[in-house]
Amino acid sequence: MTDHFRTMGQQFGRRSWAEPWKIKMVEPLTMTDPAYRQKALQEAGYNTFLLRSDDVYIDLLTDSGTNAMSDRQWAGLMLGDEAYAGSRNFYHLEEAIQTTYGYKYIVPTHQGRGAEHLLSQAMITPGQYVPGNMYFTTTRQHQELAGGIFVDVIIDEAHDPQSLHPFKGDVDLDKLQALIERVGAANVAYISLAGTVNMAGGQPVSMANVRRLRELCDRFGIRIYLDATRMVENAFFIQEREPGYADKSIAQILKEFCSYTDGAWMSAKKDNLVNIGGWLAVNHSDLFEQLRNMVVIFEGLHTYGGLAGRDMEAIAIGIGEAVQDDHVRARIGQVRYLGQLLLDWEIPIVQPIGGHAVFLDARRFYAHIPQDQFPAQTLAAELFLDSGIRSMERGVVSAGRDPKTGDHRYPKLELTRLTIPRRVYTQAHMDVIAESVKAVYDIREQTRGLKMVFEPKFLRFFQARFEPIGEK
Ligand SMILES: Cc1ncc(COP(=O)(O)O)c(C=O)c1O
Repeated sequence: MTDHFRTMGQQFGRRSWAEPWKIKMVEPLTMTDPAYRQKALQEAGYNTFLLRSDDVYIDLLTDSGTNAMSDRQWAGLMLGDEAYAGSRNFYHLEEAIQTTYGYKYIVPTHQGRGAEHLLSQAMITPGQYVPGNMYFTTTRQHQELAGGIFVDVIIDEAHDPQSLHPFKGDVDLDKLQALIERVGAANVAYISLAGTVNMAGGQPVSMANVRRLRELCDRFGIRIYLDATRMVENAFFIQEREPGYADKSIAQILKEFCSYTDGAWMSAKKDNLVNIGGWLAVNHSDLFEQLRNMVVIFEGLHTYGGLAGRDMEAIAIGIGEAVQDDHVRARIGQVRYLGQLLLDWEIPIVQPIGGHAVFLDARRFYAHIPQDQFPAQTLAAELFLDSGIRSMERGVVSAGRDPKTGDHRYPKLELTRLTIPRRVYTQAHMDVIAESVKAVYDIREQTRGLKMVFEPKFLRFFQARFEPIGEK
């Protein structure tokens, strides 16, 4: 056999596998020309969040709410019980979370940040510290709005895009212990632990780490709350990489991991395979009573939390589908296929390849563009110009400003995220994406950075506007 036209399996030295689903309904995509894309990008202020989705060809902005639901989930929508109180779909959702994640008490919310808001308000006394394994934008925003001070206690390897550490999401327990001893356990609101750390490139936390974290927190009487948004994907990496877990199912690993925590918040728009929804789950009854009371003010009654009955039904069914081993393997396999192509072409990406996305390392991609000229934002703009592919900045724009000094926060990681929606695109789309990244890489030296011309106060990456610096 020649080296040409190798199947995916052959490239990886194994038999090929394919997606464990077939397509029943299709959604046409828009194809555009460069002049059209230039105009659309200018109108969007060089911010991919401000593009119209109709102008996008392959949409890799996010894996949030962009999932393709199964025929079972669509059928479930028809079983929506839209009663104001006590909808049967709530009880179905409650049971699915209790069975799959193992927590006792459930509060539905309209999406993840609704849950972050409730937990932050209930658990943080102003001035308290909230240590976590790297920040996430909305999570930290809610912690800060509640008066908390977020402290990053992730291992140093997480900030190095070239480190091949298998569990770059791990908490540095020495850093955490030093913080607790310095500020006192009473001044720590809780540990904010994320499964597959988004901002680090979708990197997992090991079971050994969460177990030791539990022991440490028990010594100091501190609770652990888990951002379970992509915890199913985290379970896959434990199954693959951690001794003793190869023969355990994703479902078993997920439940064991959650058992070391006191509760979780969830953006169901990711792992739970729906387009909208979230939830909060806790094990302490007093906290639950407080949350159940607060949800009525901010989201809706405690048996719908801002969701339609049909949406809760789709989440309940999605939870069961999300933990199927075949599904998770195909999902992460697709992300890796794309990442591996880019690695073979020596395009700088975060390694190891994470769970939900391939993260381009814009710092190395555009070594000549300083961080205050937004290399990752520039790369997202250039990709759209080249092919109509939409990606997202995860660098200095996303990091925002330090609330005390007002200066930009300069994160070590300056990344552009190619996020893969679940069950939406095929392997041929991955090839088109890879070739577009290569085309942009090939002209990198002629590319100039951006300047920010409008900056909103909160979560600026969503609505900021930019202009190119000079002419190309
Ligand atoms: C890790 C993580 N946590 C929380 C959230 C917030 O969830 P939502 O977008 O549903 O409000 C997100 C969504 O982007 C996320 O990726």
